[in-house]
Amino acid sequence: MGKNIKLKVSIVMGSQSDYKIMKLSEKTLKNLGIPYETKIISAHRTPKRMYRYGLNVEKNNIGVIIAAAGGSAHLPGMIAALTSIPVLGVPVESKKLKGLDSLLSISQMPKGIPVGTLAIGEDGAINAALLAASIIGNTNKKIKNKLKSWRTLQTKSVNKVPK
Ligand code: RP5
Repeated sequence: MGKNIKLKVSIVMGSQSDYKIMKLSEKTLKNLGIPYETKIISAHRTPKRMYRYGLNVEKNNIGVIIAAAGGSAHLPGMIAALTSIPVLGVPVESKKLKGLDSLLSISQMPKGIPVGTLAIGEDGAINAALLAASIIGNTNKKIKNKLKSWRTLQTKSVNKVPK
């Protein structure tokens, strides 16, 4: 296995309104030194954009796709159907059902086309970036080490007793 392959993460989201959450994926990737691109692609409002993206994404040196959507949240599954690049789905909190709809929609993919599903909202956005780093770290030692250091800092930040 090559040890320093430079792969990017592609972050896609269904709406501008998802960006306040998905900024956290960007921030986390930036901290880990992982290059990324960010796009708004709606499966129902811009289906042709989604189709073009899904068919061409493999040409763009992308190692992982993070796809966020709220409500019926079909974007991650639709993109996963168009490419074999791993897709990590972030369920965005919806107004009516608090994101439970998004979570079930993204996680309940029928067999054959998987989407790795993270937690609803901010935790999911951050963990999607960390999981993308783990995947990319398999073929990039620098990223693997950065992720290790990030975790060490996290461990050190936990007090032994409450203050
Ligand atoms: C989904 O519908 C988006 O991912 C977003 O979470 C949700 C609401 O979109 P807006 O009405 O805010 O554009 O497609």
